[in-house]
Amino acid sequence: MKSLLQSSLMRINRKLQEAAPSHHVNEIMIDESRIRTRVDELVTEMVDDCRADDLVMVGILRGSFMFLADLVRALYVHGIHPRIDFMTLSSYGSGTESSGKVEVQKDLSVEVEGSDVLLIDDILDTGRTLNFACERLAAKGAANIRTCVLLDKPSRRIVPFTANYTGFTIEDCFVVGYGLDFDSCYRELPYIARVTFDEPAAD
Ligand code: IMP
Ligand code: MG
Repeated sequence: MKSLLQSSLMRINRKLQEAAPSHHVNEIMIDESRIRTRVDELVTEMVDDCRADDLVMVGILRGSFMFLADLVRALYVHGIHPRIDFMTLSSYGSGTESSGKVEVQKDLSVEVEGSDVLLIDDILDTGRTLNFACERLAAKGAANIRTCVLLDKPSRRIVPFTANYTGFTIEDCFVVGYGLDFDSCYRELPYIARVTFDEPAAD
């Protein structure tokens, strides 16, 4: 009998063939159980920094939604009750290369002046998005800004940036799942998978 994982990968590859024939998602890089273990470890690391009276957790949409949801529930077990908000920032367009310019598609809805902020993103790549988000939060008067990313690709950095908490450091490759997308697809995967790109056919 085919495992759930195998049939899920087969379905994904079918979907990719239809949408973008030159790409494949066929290698799980970080499975669900490693993610779960790492989320618990991260929460143990950050919990003492989260005990401010007024903590606001800010997720950068859309990639952070699953990671933030898991972090919040793990922090709850430790008695942490933050306010939660989101900013929708965009720099990627529809491809795999950052456009270089970060745009605010939806700003914060809550007041952060004087609050401790824990900023959550899916992945730290060039560093532009988190750098921009931190500057924006500082301009809004956040008292203390910390950052947490599930993944970090340090070899891709253009703007110097180090997150306070990092789940996994990975090499320079394109990944999807657990919130991360390729052309708005595959955010629903409960694991991180690598996307491989076929070489363009020679003329
Ligand atoms: P940065 O501004 O270049 O650091 O880009 C951060 C954003 O780019 C992330 O929040 C993701 O949305 C996107 N991104 C970077 N690398 C990947 C990847 O491998 N897969 C999917 N999205 C990515
Ligand atoms: Mg993102």
